[in-house]
Amino acid sequence: MPVGAYSVGVFRLETGYYGIVNYCPHEGADLCKGRLTGTNLHTDKLSHYEWGCEGRILRCPWHKWEFDLITGQHLADPNFRARTYRVIESEGRLTIEL
Ligand code: FES
Repeated sequence: MPVGAYSVGVFRLETGYYGIVNYCPHEGADLCKGRLTGTNLHTDKLSHYEWGCEGRILRCPWHKWEFDLITGQHLADPNFRARTYRVIESEGRLTIEL
């Protein structure tokens, strides 16, 4: 769905619909063409990770940067974030709040 200079991808998760800009803040790839997946999460043990956030992480198709679909936050570097949009469902229609 086009919004301004870029398009916005709308994804349906168990908790509702979420919109995210189709532009990766790294080098401009079509972020929404990336894979929706999970990620390795840190644990209390040194060098030990557990798989989590399945279906909530959007992985950029170019260099595999990972973004939280709901917040837009890049998982490894807090200086990078993809813009997110609130999506409202009402009477079978979706509205993106700008
Ligand atoms: S353009 Fe998205 S990670 Fe590089």
